[in-house]
Amino acid sequence: MATLRTSVLNIEFENPFLLASAPPTALVESIENAFEQGWGGAVLKTITPDDLEMIEASPRYAVLKSKDKIIGFQNIELLSHKTVQYWCEGIKYLKEKYPSKVIIASIMAPVVKEEWQNLVLAINKTPADAFELNFSCPHGMPEKGIGMAIGTDAEISSMITGWVKEVATKPVFVKLTPNVADITYISQAVEKAGCDGFTAINTVQGFMGVNLETLEPNLNIDGFSTYGGCSGTMVKPIGLKCVSQIRKTSDKPILATGGMSNWQDCAEYIAVGSDALQICTEVMLNGYGIINNLKSGLLNYLNSKGMNDISELKNIVVPKITSHEELNKKYKVCPNIDSEKCVLCGKCVKICSESEHSALSENNKQIVLNKEKCVGCSLCSYVCPKSAISMKKV
Ligand SMILES: Cc1cc2nc3c(=O)[nH]c(=O)nc-3n(C[C@H](O)[C@H](O)[C@H](O)COP(=O)(O)O)c2cc1C
Repeated sequence: MATLRTSVLNIEFENPFLLASAPPTALVESIENAFEQGWGGAVLKTITPDDLEMIEASPRYAVLKSKDKIIGFQNIELLSHKTVQYWCEGIKYLKEKYPSKVIIASIMAPVVKEEWQNLVLAINKTPADAFELNFSCPHGMPEKGIGMAIGTDAEISSMITGWVKEVATKPVFVKLTPNVADITYISQAVEKAGCDGFTAINTVQGFMGVNLETLEPNLNIDGFSTYGGCSGTMVKPIGLKCVSQIRKTSDKPILATGGMSNWQDCAEYIAVGSDALQICTEVMLNGYGIINNLKSGLLNYLNSKGMNDISELKNIVVPKITSHEELNKKYKVCPNIDSEKCVLCGKCVKICSESEHSALSENNKQIVLNKEKCVGCSLCSYVCPKSAISMKKV
């Protein structure tokens, strides 16, 4: 029988599922509720110095839907509105009541050594398991020179990591932003500065769209809007890319976050190099109770693969991600059309001809492939409404 127990930097996790720093971890009593329901741990909503101004806008969210399902948020929420003392007492309370749960203190401060170190010194005195440095909030904070303004600058990120490491008595994870050309440029810089691990990714900066009736932004604050942090299913490919890129350049632990909505997403993140998982948007849409399916799904999967724990799944796909140059260009696939399933709708023929290749045609009530013209791109198999096309190696 497989187990979900895992260990990261000697911190014991009863399961690898953590709540990411966000509204579901904004109150001690909410975290208590989540722990009761089975979450392995929580990253607290980002704690800041008490005097850092934090004025929220309303509304805070816009959503992207596919059919009727929400597949992503744009949010412009700021950081925790609770005091440092509230969190220090809260961590102590939670750890006493739930000693087996992991608590990570997310922190952010202005670029002033004393401000970062004061936060660390206060939290050092609590039983929190680790720090997470929020160098990556993409809205509001960068305008004050913090959040993503730190995480897009290797020099400032390294300097602050150094300040924190000087005084921290617990492991330090740096939460990275995907809003850079190359996330490993920053991850390698903070690793050199001494961080113990990474969290990736924070939200992807975006603009959720325009209401074409009113000609106002979808995220409409009294007729105006701003760029915000996108999260949920729509950012998963960006998260998987960033986590695997960091893994290719570092052996340090990675806490993955970005678009996980079911156990399969979580398993994929482990396969590309994650040590544990953090979830926010899916919890905000469906509640803490999703933990039951996450745990049973991942456990069943490990058992079905004959794996004892997630360490056997970790990194498996990383060596299979390479450069375009190194891909085998002699490998080719071509469509195989199941005439029983095909309803001759002509979609594959049209798309193939309008996307350069014209390798498919209809002849005698059959779709016919011209192998000379086919480049094996696979587009036809994705647009077929009847799943009648499969790609076969030639
Ligand atoms: C409303 C909202 C508030 C958030 N607040 C914080 C925060 O205070 N600190 C932080 O590090 N990340 C924050 N995040 C980012 C999440 O922790 C997480 O990294 C991101 O949403 C990607 O995960 P998801 O796709 O599971 O939501 C917030 C995200 C959302 C949607």
